[in-house]
Amino acid sequence: MSYQGLIHHYRKYLPPIKDENIVTLLECNTPLIHSEDLSQRTGLKVYLKYEGLNPTGSFKDRGMTMAISMAKEKQAKVVMCASTGNTSASAAAYAAKSGTMKCVVIIPEGNIALGKLAQAMIHQAKVIQIRGNFDDALNIVKEVTDNHPVELVNSLNPYRIEGQKTAAFEVCDVLGDAPVFHAIPVGNAGNITAYWKGYNEYKAAGQSQSLPKMLGFQAAGAAPIVHGHVIDKPETLATAIRIGNPASWKQAETARDDSGGLIDLVTDDEIIEAYKILAAHTGVFCEPASAASVAGMLKLNQQGFFKDSQGATIVCTLTGHGLKDPNNAIKVIDQPVTVDSTMDAVLKEIGL
Ligand code: F0G
Repeated sequence: MSYQGLIHHYRKYLPPIKDENIVTLLECNTPLIHSEDLSQRTGLKVYLKYEGLNPTGSFKDRGMTMAISMAKEKQAKVVMCASTGNTSASAAAYAAKSGTMKCVVIIPEGNIALGKLAQAMIHQAKVIQIRGNFDDALNIVKEVTDNHPVELVNSLNPYRIEGQKTAAFEVCDVLGDAPVFHAIPVGNAGNITAYWKGYNEYKAAGQSQSLPKMLGFQAAGAAPIVHGHVIDKPETLATAIRIGNPASWKQAETARDDSGGLIDLVTDDEIIEAYKILAAHTGVFCEPASAASVAGMLKLNQQGFFKDSQGATIVCTLTGHGLKDPNNAIKVIDQPVTVDSTMDAVLKEIGL
């Protein structure tokens, strides 16, 4: 039978749900792409889990098919989230697909990549921008959903984590086991929590033999876990991870400590460098926040972190598609030249 989406595929590892309540856009089953270029740079065997190829262009669809399906099972009429963009895009699309639910999203004004804003709007969510940041937005959403008949679909909703843990299953299914290292961007810290849960559950089920070291990366201006305190005014051009007080902070620390991994920071310059390297030398276009995983791997490599692990397998999660954020792509690269519409002018420009 053809692929029927995440819930059907991994049903026995997920909370029970009735068929008629499953809301799916045939998400997940995303490619694990081997990067020759990054393998050469690091001496590792580097794979990219390209989550940008989900229906709404980010890993959020994994959690959202579960959260929206469970909301439908509970006969919720309204779902709500705070978002740096991708969660809102995904919630809006899955609420639209449900045919029964309205979606309300709260976003920080001026700090959402253009593509994500377009998605929430075209799927006809009620989009409310606040004069504040993601952390402020999440506080408001928690209070509203605690006190009104509105379903929270941020990653505080345990079904989001259940859905997202399946990314670890897919990695193990392709590689035949867990990788030695798993590098991942960290914002609100739901995803690192979910991967660690997934790797552990798959091993317990006898589907894999080992566990990876989890390597999480925050943006330097938004690195509360690295610094050990809340950041009141987080700043980074990787707006998806512009978060100062992650909801799953403790769980992220558990993933780090229990796996023998680390959570480190990468500067915006390092993020952009990795973003460009990925696009130019592996042919994969991700959004800036996603490139934090690769930036972190390259930073650790320069510090000699992998010197005793040559040839080891590492998976870097690329959380969202590059087309989400066209403005940053155009900003960091040379502009195209414009010439007269003659063959001579074109040949001259090519140097032929
Ligand atoms: N990468 C991208 C592209 C994201 O959109 C996010 C989170 C992350 C990484 C970090 O994942 O929060 O699980 O640690 N975006 C959320 C949102 C906050 O609202 O779309 P995390």
